[in-house]
Amino acid sequence: MSEDPSHSQDHSQDHSQDFVTLKDERSGKSTRLPVLYGSQGSPVLDIATLHAEFGYYTFDPGYGATGSCASAITFINGSEGVLMHRGYDISELAEQSDYLEVCYLLLNADLPNKTQKDEFFQTIRNHTMLHDQMQYFFRGFRRDAHPMAIMVAVVGALSAFYHDSLDIQDEEQRKLASIRMVAKMPTIAAQVYKYAIGQPFVSPRNDLGYVENFLNMTFSVPAEAYHADPAVVRALEQIFILHADHEQNASTSTVRLAGSSGANPFACIAAGISSLWGPAHGGANEAVLNMLEDMEETSRIPEFLARAKDKDDPFRLMGFGHRVYKNYDPRAAVLRKCLESVLISKGVEREPLFERARALEKAALEDAYFVERKLFPNVDFYSGILLRAMGFPTSMFTVLFALARTVGWVAQWREMVEDPSSRIGRPRQLYRGRTKRPFVPLEQRKS
Ligand code: ACO
Repeated sequence: MSEDPSHSQDHSQDHSQDFVTLKDERSGKSTRLPVLYGSQGSPVLDIATLHAEFGYYTFDPGYGATGSCASAITFINGSEGVLMHRGYDISELAEQSDYLEVCYLLLNADLPNKTQKDEFFQTIRNHTMLHDQMQYFFRGFRRDAHPMAIMVAVVGALSAFYHDSLDIQDEEQRKLASIRMVAKMPTIAAQVYKYAIGQPFVSPRNDLGYVENFLNMTFSVPAEAYHADPAVVRALEQIFILHADHEQNASTSTVRLAGSSGANPFACIAAGISSLWGPAHGGANEAVLNMLEDMEETSRIPEFLARAKDKDDPFRLMGFGHRVYKNYDPRAAVLRKCLESVLISKGVEREPLFERARALEKAALEDAYFVERKLFPNVDFYSGILLRAMGFPTSMFTVLFALARTVGWVAQWREMVEDPSSRIGRPRQLYRGRTKRPFVPLEQRKS
């Protein structure tokens, strides 16, 4: 074994004989646990026999040290700021690829050739419309409902409309469900927005590209023509690519856990959307904007940093820190460049929120508290400012994240369903509640 397993990268050698010997000091009993190696990244200890051998479960709240599955989709090296999909670096994909090509890559393990790419685009285009009756779902919501509340319900409701893609044992139905979700999410997201602002729904246009079509459904109105700004189209394409998948994060793990019981794919993705909604996950970019607005001016940065460092204050620097990245999040670097190009294209010379964000980043990265804890800007630090510059209201930010992440959820769900060793996810617990006691009739209970 290498001296520092966390930095082991290439595991091409044969390590099949590697074990870690574990000794229980209480009983004096020892066992050998196999060390498993992926193609790169930290090795993992196979503890499947631990309970049978020793009677112990493991305790790891938040799963900080637990691998929940084997996966071949996405690799992250958090200490070096590396993110790769199927072996391709995220910044190369963001610079040189397009979102649908990345979708193909995530779902099919390789980049498409020209014919495969054309066929895939065509298949997606065939499924962009929603069943007409789905409009009644939208109409049942209050106009001031949070867009995520509507999205989670509408995506779950897809299972009530597309009965021919619910059988998870049928490979063709799994593929059809995946295509439907990637194709319909922009339509759902745009309709959520139109419903909130009281404008008529705009139908998908299959002569447009995936991103341009989404912008058209979101921002066009029947009364006048809409032409998307190419800089905005390219920036949104990059945002979608950067959010397409991110290994076993909270929402992806939620999708896998929901799917492990055999639930249908639409229900599983709705579960993932619910998890994404929280401010510690996909809701963080909205929180970043609120924080920068509350700040009002850069002179207040020391005050915000002091609050973030104060353990008695629940305030955290939003858009900073990450469970996995202990280095600059590679997605944040691309988004910062993207933001600069959108501001230039829109002729915006001064964007006060961007100025505050850059000054805050600089101050935090020079502050011992953030340096020692390896807290860097994450994907959400610049994405909110960028989405707002593109014309999206804050309440739509997490909806856009869900739209882009759907392909990752679907790819991970399919990988799990197609893995013969998968079984229902069922964690254990450390029980700290009351032990057995007799039932107390109502009249004898203390008031
Ligand atoms: N501001 C101030 N201190 C922070 C921050 C922050 N943003 N993030 C972490 N810390 C501190 C913690 O208080 C802790 O300090 P301690 O060691 O003195 O106790 C230390 O850094 C380690 O942090 P953890 O809480 O262990 O980090 P964890 O992995 O549990 O949380 C998380 C990661 C939730 C992202 C956290 O950094 C955070 O709350 N950030 C702000 C919210 C945010 O930006 N979320 C988006 C994440 S990206 C995404 O989901 C798409």
